[in-house]
Amino acid sequence: MASKKINLAVLISGSGSNLQALIDACARDDFPARIAVVLSNKGDAFGLTRAQKAGIPTEVISHKDHDGREPFEAAIIKALTPYAPDLICLAGFMRILTPHFINHWGAQRMINIHPSLLPDYKGLNTHQRAIDDDKDTAGCTVHFVAPEVDSGEIITQKQVPIHPDDTAETLAKRVLVQEHIAYPEAVERVAKTLLPQ
Ligand code: GAR
Repeated sequence: MASKKINLAVLISGSGSNLQALIDACARDDFPARIAVVLSNKGDAFGLTRAQKAGIPTEVISHKDHDGREPFEAAIIKALTPYAPDLICLAGFMRILTPHFINHWGAQRMINIHPSLLPDYKGLNTHQRAIDDDKDTAGCTVHFVAPEVDSGEIITQKQVPIHPDDTAETLAKRVLVQEHIAYPEAVERVAKTLLPQ
């Protein structure tokens, strides 16, 4: 890696607000990463529009066009490889990935953002589950991806209070503000470990 920036591949399935936070961070000269490609498994993901506006190449690989996880993931690997990603960033990518796919990129070369304070509330509906459990704190986690879903070494976490009148929607909005701070912070930290000193 000769440059002072690593190449990111950002994988999305939807709105891409975390992708936007990464696009904005990567616009800084001193940020140690650039987004080489954005890949979505959904052709109508708004995040694709965000990427195109920023002049970033996009790829769409739909799981619906592939007969099972392995062929789907093989197609993703084929699409991403020409962009030589140093780090794969899952940003609201809502497909479970096989150990083969995770290991393909090398040790600690894939990170994910999850809307809970892991190890609490792995999986879906994190905010409603935290409210139902009468928790007073929620948050988000950026972690390295390991074969077991929503596990792997934690890079950073941010906390927010849960208010008595919160719904899953109001809490999600408060957490999302912190996600947009946490993800660039985590990418910066990991990128610095990958760049030559
Ligand atoms: C984010 O809240 C992210 O933490 C969550 O999906 C949302 C994507 O929003 N990810 C997961 O639930 C992964 N298990 P975005 O498309 O606006 O970034």
